[in-house]
Amino acid sequence: MDEKIERLLSWIDKSQKIVFLGGAGVSTDSGIADFRSSTGLYSGDFRDAYGQARAEEILSGGYLKRFPERFYRFYFENLIFPGAKPNIVHCTLARLEQIGKLSAVVTQNIDGLHESAGSRRVLCLHGSSASNTCMKCGQKYSLADIQNMGVPPKCICDGIVRPDVVLFGESLDAEVMSESAECISNADMLIVGGTSLAVFPAAMFVQYYRGEKFVIINRDATPYDMAARLVIREPLGEVFGAVERYIDEFYGR
Ligand code: OAD
Repeated sequence: MDEKIERLLSWIDKSQKIVFLGGAGVSTDSGIADFRSSTGLYSGDFRDAYGQARAEEILSGGYLKRFPERFYRFYFENLIFPGAKPNIVHCTLARLEQIGKLSAVVTQNIDGLHESAGSRRVLCLHGSSASNTCMKCGQKYSLADIQNMGVPPKCICDGIVRPDVVLFGESLDAEVMSESAECISNADMLIVGGTSLAVFPAAMFVQYYRGEKFVIINRDATPYDMAARLVIREPLGEVFGAVERYIDEFYGR
């Protein structure tokens, strides 16, 4: 581990345009479950409560339209964590940006914790739970607004309000995709962390990286481990603890 961490820190030291591509594993230390770990959301059995549907089916655009009340019950219970706070990974990534080393965070998470930690350029491939839109009239609502509207949340025009997140069966936002691809192809280092890289097209974004410093930090193996130059299968909190100490030492607290 120490040798790998040294390599990671020496690459960070030499880089000015790092991109971090992350997923649910970044937020597990904030108390938010991931999806595909043994304790992840997709290991749960919700079939009785949700008419035989699996979590992946419930989180689809089609299910939201057919069963808005059930969708929202699941969404509020399993994907929204109002008390969650950024952890050391979010905070250290924000500091890497502040000291001029990191150009963007590209995330599959919808929890807004990178923004809360102070990261300025955050590209949310799967949208954000912070923003919501009436499916009938397009009126925008905050998360707090829809939490106070009942289930399913309804607009003043009586339309159902949906979260601005990308559900299964829906396309990613074209602008976010092209900006993410551009950032990654211009990056001088790519750190992938806390993602199984199992979901497309998000996983495909690693292929835009053209440099020599491709790192994967993830507890479980991913399909791209062979392509990475450095694979660290350790808890992100420990690895980013070392990055935080590097920043403290060379850039001050
Ligand atoms: P996954 O649950 O598929 O993968 C999370 C990965 O993070 C796993 O491989 C874990 O081993 C790893 N992990 C968890 N905690 C960790 C920690 N503290 N340190 C190191 N590694 C850790 O989550 P995603 O790849 O983000 O999409 O899933 C992608 C998409 O699938 C999500 O955005 C969501 C889901 O369906 C939508 O909801 C549209």
